[in-house]
Amino acid sequence: MTSSSVPLPPPTDARGLGLRLRPWRASDEQALAAMADDPLLRQWSPLSRDATGVAGWIAKRAVWDDHLSWAVVDDADRLLAGVSVWQFDPVQASASVGYWTAPTQRGRGVAAMATRVATAFAFRTTAIERLTCFHAVENIASCHVATRAGFLFEGTLRQSWRYPDGRLHDEHLHALLRDDPGVLDALER
Ligand SMILES: CC(C)(COP(=O)(O)OP(=O)(O)OC[C@H]1O[C@@H](n2cnc3c(N)ncnc32)[C@H](O)[C@@H]1OP(=O)(O)O)[C@@H](O)C(=O)NCCC(=O)NCCS
Repeated sequence: MTSSSVPLPPPTDARGLGLRLRPWRASDEQALAAMADDPLLRQWSPLSRDATGVAGWIAKRAVWDDHLSWAVVDDADRLLAGVSVWQFDPVQASASVGYWTAPTQRGRGVAAMATRVATAFAFRTTAIERLTCFHAVENIASCHVATRAGFLFEGTLRQSWRYPDGRLHDEHLHALLRDDPGVLDALER
């Protein structure tokens, strides 16, 4: 890949592991706004930092210009989680994944399952070879999610990302390769 950007598919549903990942809609604003005060989202998620508010956050994610981003919903279209693939690098054929789970939906493995579906979709529809996942060392639940989604722990980065608390945190780097076993299995065709 030598072009200046990685060609991405148009906003599309992805299904698998009993979950539906669908593009964000303006009508998600109310459900998202209801989570705004959740302490874990405020601590670890860019959701709490978007200067344009919830509506602006949704509008940016609904357009897949440099990322893939989904609302994870159940059969009743109830919002369970969010997952994105971003930081596409055409030279290195790589990208990163990010996720969060709605406060009322935690503890059921939703983030790991959604991440498996999203990463399978990314490998099927783009030319990337490697997906990374970074989380603050203190964010132990996220470490479990990355591992359960198949991302191998590769090391600790020192003071590598400024989180919404304004502090630089050490992070774990995990990664998944296109050729790792079972990577494409989670996505229904
Ligand atoms: C991290 C997060 C996505 C996990 O969501 P989830 O779908 O509820 O995940 P689960 O709780 O089902 O699974 C997480 C794992 O972490 C474990 N875990 C959860 N909270 C934990 C805690 N406080 N300490 C240690 N382990 C914890 C669970 O036991 C589970 O372990 P397992 O997979 O080995 O069984 C959720 O806590 C969240 O939205 N956090 C805020 C946003 C965020 O941190 N995003 C990631 C940024 S890198």
